[in-house]
Amino acid sequence: MTTLLQINASINNSNGQSSQLANQFVAAFLVRNPSAKIVVRDVAAAEPVPHLNAERFGAFITKPEERSTAQHAVVAYSDTLINELKQADVIVLGLPMYNFGVPSQLKAYFDHIARAGVTFKYTDMGPVGLLTSKKVYVFAARGGLYAGSPLDTQTSYVRDFLRFLGITDVEFIYAEGLGISPQSKEAALAKAVAEIERLAA
Ligand SMILES: Cc1cc2nc3c(=O)[nH]c(=O)nc-3n(C[C@H](O)[C@H](O)[C@H](O)COP(=O)(O)O)c2cc1C
Repeated sequence: MTTLLQINASINNSNGQSSQLANQFVAAFLVRNPSAKIVVRDVAAAEPVPHLNAERFGAFITKPEERSTAQHAVVAYSDTLINELKQADVIVLGLPMYNFGVPSQLKAYFDHIARAGVTFKYTDMGPVGLLTSKKVYVFAARGGLYAGSPLDTQTSYVRDFLRFLGITDVEFIYAEGLGISPQSKEAALAKAVAEIERLAA
């Protein structure tokens, strides 16, 4: 059975444009894969991921047998997020742009899934990602126009981070210019929906 993990990162919950596009893709995916298991992880609105701090990172690097109860809880939470990723064949990421970057809660999520010895390991040849054989679709919603320009640091950041964990098959679908005018928004969403239909075909 195929498992699809949908990660929503909009502060606007399911009303976010990125979440809505991700939802549309998942609906189309389910038509093609009716027995697929869908898991939804909302990292920003419904269940915001806490920011990494010294205490939380300290839990990660403390030996299991030496962890306090609080540290066990922190690691168990991180393990839950990581297990969702490990079990996913397909990952759908709803990705808003906020202030030129990814939502801070998504960064916090990334900070909780990048674990040495768990999702990547250090070798003589440098770090090696341990999450492989996954396809990722990213639905990037933006008020302005950035794709293909040096201002789009978001795309390379997300690609580089996923590659660090071993995930290299990553496709971006953009809905840009959502804040420029109603016409621009309508055209961008129509283009993104056409992309979804193409991917679903
Ligand atoms: C706090 C905030 C910051 C934003 N910063 C940017 C930005 O830097 N560049 C941009 O193109 N759009 C920016 N936008 C517009 C969002 O990218 C746009 O509303 C998009 O639809 C957000 O995704 P969402 O609807 O899934 O939440 C910003 C929106 C908010 C609420």
